[in-house]
Amino acid sequence: MWSSRFAFILAVAGSAVGLGNIWKFPYMAGENGGGAFVLFYLLCVVAIGLPIMVSEIMIGRRGRRNPIATMRIVGEEEGSRPSWGLVGVMGIFAGFLILSFYSVIAGWALAYFVFSLGGEFTGGTPETIGALFASLLGDWKMLGLWHTIFMVLTVGIVARGVERGLERFVRIAMPGLLLLMIILLVYAIVAADFASGWRFLLTPDLEALTPQAMLEAMGQAFFTLSVGMGAIMAYGAYLPEGTSILRTSIWVVVTDTAIALLAGLIIFPIVFANGLDPASGPGLIFETLPLAFGSMPGGAFLAPVFFGLLVFAAWTSGIGLLEPAVAWSVESHGRSRRSAAIVIGAIVWALGFLTLLSFNVFADFKFLGGTLFQNIDHLASNILLPLGGLFIAIFAGWVMCKNSSSEELDIGTGPAYQAWRFLARWLAPAAVLVVFLHATGLLGRFGLM
Ligand code: TRP
Repeated sequence: MWSSRFAFILAVAGSAVGLGNIWKFPYMAGENGGGAFVLFYLLCVVAIGLPIMVSEIMIGRRGRRNPIATMRIVGEEEGSRPSWGLVGVMGIFAGFLILSFYSVIAGWALAYFVFSLGGEFTGGTPETIGALFASLLGDWKMLGLWHTIFMVLTVGIVARGVERGLERFVRIAMPGLLLLMIILLVYAIVAADFASGWRFLLTPDLEALTPQAMLEAMGQAFFTLSVGMGAIMAYGAYLPEGTSILRTSIWVVVTDTAIALLAGLIIFPIVFANGLDPASGPGLIFETLPLAFGSMPGGAFLAPVFFGLLVFAAWTSGIGLLEPAVAWSVESHGRSRRSAAIVIGAIVWALGFLTLLSFNVFADFKFLGGTLFQNIDHLASNILLPLGGLFIAIFAGWVMCKNSSSEELDIGTGPAYQAWRFLARWLAPAAVLVVFLHATGLLGRFGLM
């Protein structure tokens, strides 16, 4: 059990806030033309992500097991089929895929932590900083080393089951990260092209909202909130009765969204002040932030603190990605926590090499229009998470009866409950389906959108 509501919020926020906010959101917004993508992402966060987060915590607390067993058991309790457990299976698979590339990117952040300790950013220009990133990407052995270190750190914690010891760290690291981002924001306002950055990020150009951009914005909403794969369900399993699920979820969603927007408002002013390309892809923060640290007062000290905190934020997310699979293996197969964490960690680690090599050795190997990394990310974030979320919403809204959900949410049956139920029953599932269909081009072909 979590010791308090606050401890639970910290744990869920620790899982939600991570590379998704600081690394992925800015580069995805950059690739998809900015404002319109951001607007659609915000809509998805509120109308799809929030009700699904509420649903996941609610189902988790009711089932009190790993996501597979929880979905199966609550499904049976509600008079439905045990095959709902398959949603948990899909979620665990999605978590595998996500962690495999997440760890590689967290490895980049680790490398940058060490670069910054060595003063590599001081006086950097877009050329030298760009070259530093390119040389890191080109060296697959180095990337492999950092990826390995991150996986060992993550497996180490999950193997010993001391996740809750992290509470204390999150309590310090989260405000620390926020403080550093505010310092960076001040830099972006006084020393970079804040007006252009603001305009790019927050002025929607609806022309840029292609069906593909909509799919990616929806995927990003799922990814950044950690929903759609049962991870939050696994956390909810340890939530004491009498804690408000709705208020907790709102807190986490607001914090997570604020940090992503802050990251965007820091990165894009630096992009435009230096004549960089907002659509340059996954390297975006690694090609921009060092420029800020390299030229701001105290930057040599702040850079390692920032990248250290970023690694930490990635670490708390990595733990959350690994935990559901390990909990399942322990509860359903009677494995020891230690061996489950090591075996699963090793598989994820090996899978990570597909991502790692797709930035160098296999950079030209493309299928379905993307590199291995792009395909793994696309499958997990833009397809499996929304699909999992669709089933979770249907389960919470249709399979669970009104009595069960209103009892578990404990907010009566007033407007807040009605709003949640409407979103879970109708809007969230319909929105996911429409975005999926739209991305296949079918709606356009029939002149429906
Ligand atoms: N939300 C995390 C981030 O933004 C990534 C993530 C996705 C995650 N699904 C998760 C983390 C499940 C923990 C558990 O970085």
